[in-house]
Amino acid sequence: MIQSLRGMNDILSNDYERFEYFISTASTIAKRYGFHYIETPLLEETALFKRSVGESSDIVGKEMYQFTDKGGNDVCLRPEGTAGVVRAFVQNKLDKKGGIHRFYYHGSMFRYERPQKGRLRQFHQFGVESFGVDSVYEDALMIMMVADILKALGIGYSLKLNSLGDQNCMPAYREKLIAFIDTCGDAICEDCQRRKSTNPIRVLDCKNQACQNLYTQAPKLLNHLCAGCESDFETLKSILDQHEINYELDTNLVRGLDYYSKTAFEFVSDEIGSQSAIAGGGRYDRLIEFLDGKPTPAVGFALGIERLMELIVMPEPVREGYYLGAMEEESLPLILKAAENFRKTDKAVVEYDAKSLKNHLKGADRINARYCAVIGENERLNNTIWIKDLVEQKESTISLKEGTNE
Ligand code: HAM
Repeated sequence: MIQSLRGMNDILSNDYERFEYFISTASTIAKRYGFHYIETPLLEETALFKRSVGESSDIVGKEMYQFTDKGGNDVCLRPEGTAGVVRAFVQNKLDKKGGIHRFYYHGSMFRYERPQKGRLRQFHQFGVESFGVDSVYEDALMIMMVADILKALGIGYSLKLNSLGDQNCMPAYREKLIAFIDTCGDAICEDCQRRKSTNPIRVLDCKNQACQNLYTQAPKLLNHLCAGCESDFETLKSILDQHEINYELDTNLVRGLDYYSKTAFEFVSDEIGSQSAIAGGGRYDRLIEFLDGKPTPAVGFALGIERLMELIVMPEPVREGYYLGAMEEESLPLILKAAENFRKTDKAVVEYDAKSLKNHLKGADRINARYCAVIGENERLNNTIWIKDLVEQKESTISLKEGTNE
């Protein structure tokens, strides 16, 4: 039997209900915040991710589904959504147009990681990207939106917050950090040795405990912000305080993608094991120009849908729509016609096998229908349909003419 690939799962039955519930809840909230849907291709030129996510990141360095297509192009299944949305923004000249552009999206992402609980090779994200606002209020808006989505889904979280500085303060901090890393000599892991020359701040979130013990002495990002970054970060914290969104400062939170500057944040849950990040995001004011666009401030986030699906508190299922069945074969055409009519305004599911009333009532229960509608011999001869409202527990018989609108 052919199996799905490792780390790539089907989403069906109960899971699909959760998945759909998540998408509709998150989309409704994103639209309320003024965001519009955007769809970008799953496959993009590899160069897009190299230039955005960054050559030094694990994603680009180790985890890309990269291949040469039949036309000889170096392509890659998207490992994340931001790069493609920025490419679309620039390609469609929205950067030249100016103004504010806010998008949301959801779909599959691909990373060739070592699969484990909460870590897949094909997973789904719900993300938003906002272009054209440099005010830190937009950063706060992003965090409030994630908090709103999680609240609507009944999910508890903690929020980690950091500022990564900008081109005014970051270069000096980098130099200080490199000087510090040099003092560690060979005591740090090979990955950190490599990061020292590619993207030194990535050493700060190294998973190796020996490295982490050394880095407690490292210069702290949050102590090296310039006046502008410092004041934005203070404003951000006070907006979150005003909205009673709790956060903890984490000066080692650097995120695994290279495009961030200033605000960086991560939402984590302590209920899903070691892969605890349920959402991450931040500001990326330089990325649009890195991808040949006109410099445009930008900020966004993405939620990991599979990790959230474990945590969603589903609303009580409500009975809805019609279950329709015939008690004898001859009534089936009438049932189909009635279903067609009900379906104009409601859900209507037809059972094809002729069955007793008792069995049809069981069938209606199974699909959680509100109404069980049945045609037996009597009804067929009188051109009527028997309907039971399974919530009100009321029975009625209506004319099929009425039911079929003839
Ligand atoms: P990210 O932190 O790499 O950010 O991914 C966002 C979320 O996707 C994570 O918090 C996690 O829940 C989920 N996720 C990541 N990798 C996996 C995996 N292998 N299996 C299951 N879930 C996973 C980004 O991708 C950025 N594009 C977010 C962003 C948007 N920043 C600005 N705009």
